[in-house]
Amino acid sequence: MPTSIPVLIDTDPGVDDALALALALASPELSVRAVTTVAGNVDLATATANAAYLLRILAPDREIRLAQGFAQPLARELVTAEEVHGSDGLAGITSHDRWRRSSTESLDVPADAVDVIIEEVGTSAEPVTVIALGPLTNVAAALRRDLSAMRRAAAIVVMGGSLHAGGNVTPHAEFNFYVDPEAADLVLASGLPVIVTPLDVTHQLAVSDETVESRLLSLADPRGAFLGELIRRARAEQFTGRGGKLLLHDPAAVGTMLWPELFTMESHHLTVDCGDGDPRGAMRPTTDDDAGKGRTAAQVAVDVAADAVVSRIVERLVAGGDKSD
Ligand code: RIB
Ligand code: CA
Repeated sequence: MPTSIPVLIDTDPGVDDALALALALASPELSVRAVTTVAGNVDLATATANAAYLLRILAPDREIRLAQGFAQPLARELVTAEEVHGSDGLAGITSHDRWRRSSTESLDVPADAVDVIIEEVGTSAEPVTVIALGPLTNVAAALRRDLSAMRRAAAIVVMGGSLHAGGNVTPHAEFNFYVDPEAADLVLASGLPVIVTPLDVTHQLAVSDETVESRLLSLADPRGAFLGELIRRARAEQFTGRGGKLLLHDPAAVGTMLWPELFTMESHHLTVDCGDGDPRGAMRPTTDDDAGKGRTAAQVAVDVAADAVVSRIVERLVAGGDKSD
């Protein structure tokens, strides 16, 4: 087995973030060094309480560093998505007696996520890949604070943006890029290797029927039962689904690291609209003359072998955490 890739996951859990975390933790190809939280789907306190809670359920025998970051975008008011993920950010599962979560969990989590990102990336012997599953506020702040340290990153893998698939929060913008367009544009202009998984791909990746939750709910271990109940609720409550479909946005970004051969990538110089008009947060390919401004091209997933990726994600979630790091 080749050595596993060290990763740091920055996240705003979030139903699909929870599935992405479960996927990463169940994948021997990846070594999760740290998890950092950012405000996005829900406020920072809820995202952080969820991350702590998820690590206990998904990786009960592992000590994974956790830190919380920005409660607001770099230059704007926070926009959240409780209507999609539920007020607890996890499709209401924490109101279920078996899955209760303390709402004060976040108080014990250090608030130094940006320093943690810089430290984990800047001091690791093997280059760390940053997997960004929420608004890019923490990652952009780390690039601003210590670009030379961040240049040691292997890549920044981002779930966000939309090339030709329209938006999911406005007709033009995907949620992560809409919430913090300045941060998204800064990351894309940073000169670091950036791999983007946009809605063009994630709209093709869905759990559409009850077979997945049934398989997970039939597992004896609490991890499987939790994931099954989470998917059941998310689909039933329509929190993140469209007509009972649960879109696998964040697991898709992890999937580009696990199964790159199943994704079609294109190279694009990208900008993000930082205005206040309708196109706020829209991701756009720029002409090559932007390349001269240090804006290196990002690798963008433009298509995917959807059935293969969904079934591999599901099999990984079902097989579960029987990997030792
Ligand atoms: O647009 C989808 C993205 O926004 C996902 O990361 C989802 O969790 C939300 O953060
Ligand atoms: Ca997310």
